[in-house]
Amino acid sequence: MANGLPVRSPNDPAQYDDLTDEWWKPHGRFAALHWLAEARGALVPPPPYPGAPLLDVACGAGLLAPHLPPGWRHVGLDLSALSLVQARAHGVGPVRGDALRLPFADASLPCVVAGEVLEHLPDLEGACAELARVLAGGGVLVVDTLADTLFARLALLGVAEHVPGGPPAGLHRADLLVDPGRLTRALAAHGVHVRQLGGLRPSVPGYLLWLLRRRSSVRMLPTRSTAGVYQLIAVKEDT
Ligand SMILES: C[S@@+](CC[C@H](N)C(=O)[O-])C[C@H]1O[C@@H](n2cnc3c(N)ncnc32)[C@H](O)[C@@H]1O
Repeated sequence: MANGLPVRSPNDPAQYDDLTDEWWKPHGRFAALHWLAEARGALVPPPPYPGAPLLDVACGAGLLAPHLPPGWRHVGLDLSALSLVQARAHGVGPVRGDALRLPFADASLPCVVAGEVLEHLPDLEGACAELARVLAGGGVLVVDTLADTLFARLALLGVAEHVPGGPPAGLHRADLLVDPGRLTRALAAHGVHVRQLGGLRPSVPGYLLWLLRRRSSVRMLPTRSTAGVYQLIAVKEDT
C-alpha cells in the first residue's frame, strides 16, 4: 500500500477502481477530466434523430453526460464495473467491455466518442480499427488524448501529476502517448478522416480561481499547439 492505495503497475486500469470515490468530486483526483469532458461535449454534433445512440468508449463514471447535446442516447463502455455503476446513475447506458473489442455491430453508431483513453491502450492501430468499424458511414468520431511529445512527458506526466487537478501519478505510461499524425493515419486507414484537430490548455485565471475554490471547474481553451492535450473530430466515409 502507498498513500492508502494498493501499489499497481503504471497504466493498470484497476487504479480507477481504487480511486472510484474521486470521479465526481469537482476538486478530486479526476478534476481535469471534468474540464476535458466539457470541451469534448462541445465537439459532439446534435443527434441525427431523437434517441440516436452515442457510444462513449471508456466512459469512466460518465463525466461526459452533462455536456452532451440533448437527444442522444448515451451508451458508455468501460472495463471498470465500479465506474459504470456511477455512469449509470448519471443516465448512461452501461456496457462492460474492452475498447479493443467493441461489442457493437459494424457501422451501427452515428457518433463515437473516445475521451482520454487512447493513451492507455496498448494497440493504437487496433483501437482505431474498432472505432472505425462500429461507426456508421457519415458518422462522427470525437477524440481527445495526450500527445507523444517531450512536452507531454515532462509537463503532463511529470509536473502535472504533482499539482492539484493533474492526473494521479502512475496512471499513464509514457510509451503509450499518441502522436497526432500516427492517430490521423491509423483512422484514415479505415476510412475515418480527421476534419478538425487542435490543442487544449486550461485557462490560467480559471485554474487559479479553481485552486481558491471560487470555481468548480476550469475552462479548457483552444491552442494551436498539439504538443500536450489535443482533440479531434473525424468523419467516416459514406460508402
Ligand atoms: C482517463 S479515464 C477517462 C474516462 C472518461 N472517458 C472521462 O474522460 O471521464 C480512462 C478510462 O479508460 C478505461 N479503460 C482503460 N482501458 C480500457 C479498455 N481497454 N477498455 C475499456 N475501458 C478502458 C478506464 O477504466 C477509465 O475509466
